[in-house]
Amino acid sequence: MRSNEQTGKFCPYYPQPRKSKATLLNLFFSARHSWLDALYERSYQMRMGEVHLPGLDLYMVNEPAAVRQIMEDRNGDFLKSPLLGDALRPLLGDSIFTTNGNQWQRQRTMMNPAFEQARMQVAFPVMQDAVNAMMIRLDQLPEGVEHDMEVEMTYVTADIIFRTIFSQPMEGDDARRIFHAFARFQALAPRLMLPSLFGVRWLVWPWDTWRSRRAATEIRRLLEKLIQPRYAAYQQAATGQPRDILQSFLEARDAATGTPFNFEELVDQVAMLFLAGHETSASALTWTCHLIAHSKDVQDRMHAEAAALGNPASLQASDLKSLELIRNVFRETLRLFPPVGFIARQASTGCPLGGKQINTGDTIVVAPWLIQRHRKYWQAPDHFDPDRFERPGTRDSLRQAYLPFGMGPRVCLGAAFALQEATLILARLVRDYELTPVPGHVPIPVGRLTIRSANGVRLLLTRRN
Ligand code: HEM
Repeated sequence: MRSNEQTGKFCPYYPQPRKSKATLLNLFFSARHSWLDALYERSYQMRMGEVHLPGLDLYMVNEPAAVRQIMEDRNGDFLKSPLLGDALRPLLGDSIFTTNGNQWQRQRTMMNPAFEQARMQVAFPVMQDAVNAMMIRLDQLPEGVEHDMEVEMTYVTADIIFRTIFSQPMEGDDARRIFHAFARFQALAPRLMLPSLFGVRWLVWPWDTWRSRRAATEIRRLLEKLIQPRYAAYQQAATGQPRDILQSFLEARDAATGTPFNFEELVDQVAMLFLAGHETSASALTWTCHLIAHSKDVQDRMHAEAAALGNPASLQASDLKSLELIRNVFRETLRLFPPVGFIARQASTGCPLGGKQINTGDTIVVAPWLIQRHRKYWQAPDHFDPDRFERPGTRDSLRQAYLPFGMGPRVCLGAAFALQEATLILARLVRDYELTPVPGHVPIPVGRLTIRSANGVRLLLTRRN
């Protein structure tokens, strides 16, 4: 961990890339722990790389024009890879995150209304309630003691998505069981995914598969318990139902057939939203805390920006517009630590791409982690510099090489939701607290379901006067 001597910008630690490509065996064993460990120096400079393993031909694409082809122009030829889907199916069923073709199109059209701008306004007071609860929890923590920010960031983002889906706080035994079972499921997912990626599925421990299925079954049963009464009320045309995400899903109709989501589909989509809606935001917010704790000047400016808003209890969604620095800090975190570090696709047809011939079934990886730290597209790529977003010189980098939410038709459905909740959480946090590093503690990024720290992000929180 170091600062740039000329600019004073903080450079967070990340696993130093290998000098040269690893052997197959090395690659597998290092990637099993974290796929970031399998990267080598050229990965951050190349336009396209390839790995050929028994049963797997994989292309890593950094070239902006080729990325656009995969994600936008010819997205129909590059489908969601089954790698992720296979590991997540016991929990998410056939949810929007993993489906393709007409099935995906139907789901996306039916789910879009829940995330329109008007709905974000409705969600704002609900997010405020969850953030108020976070501030109460933080106020009860003893001062001068280190805290793992990952714990609170995971809890508050889970609480926000829970409240926006169900119009109730994540309290009580069942809600807590959902939260803990999700944590178990997430921890196991990479162990099931990586052997598939390397074509050695037989290396998956049956014990891991069993534990993952058990967690998935528990979560789905608990979610069914929550969804059932609302489903029944909707069938009986009960009035006075809350205007939350679940209600929007109940009202959604297939444009062609006029049919609604059936009960099973509802459970799939709600489970997926709970996972996609908090795991990613929690990862990004935790890294933001790490970065600003090491950049006192930036944190003080964020504090001034948040304090200028006045009484936090009466904040409105429109107030967030003035928080430009806080937004840029979050955007810069998403550049350095994109929660979805790699996006996998499978070619449904043979075609030329970036000068190579791709065959049907080949795996294509677009890695925001690499593209957003790419030596050719970014200046000082490893340094934390939120003001870069204000400099005209960054426009090209942004246009070509910034995709924390993906791009094209499958761009993140919850991007506006994530930006709104993150800005609110950060504004409230830096307004009342100063975050400082714990001497000697260096968080180690690991690439799993999202990019998390192997040893937590421990910080000291001091209440500002
Ligand atoms: C900082 C937070 C977040 C990041 C970085 C993020 C990132 C992404 C990315 C990269 C994708 C595209 C994956 C691909 O193309 O294969 C995606 C898809 C998706 N995200 Fe997010 N996400 C975030 C938060 C959220 C939230 C809060 C929600 C919901 C409330 C959400 C819901 C979804 C859904 C439903 C999809 C699937 C869209 C589709 O396939 O049509 N995400 N997200």
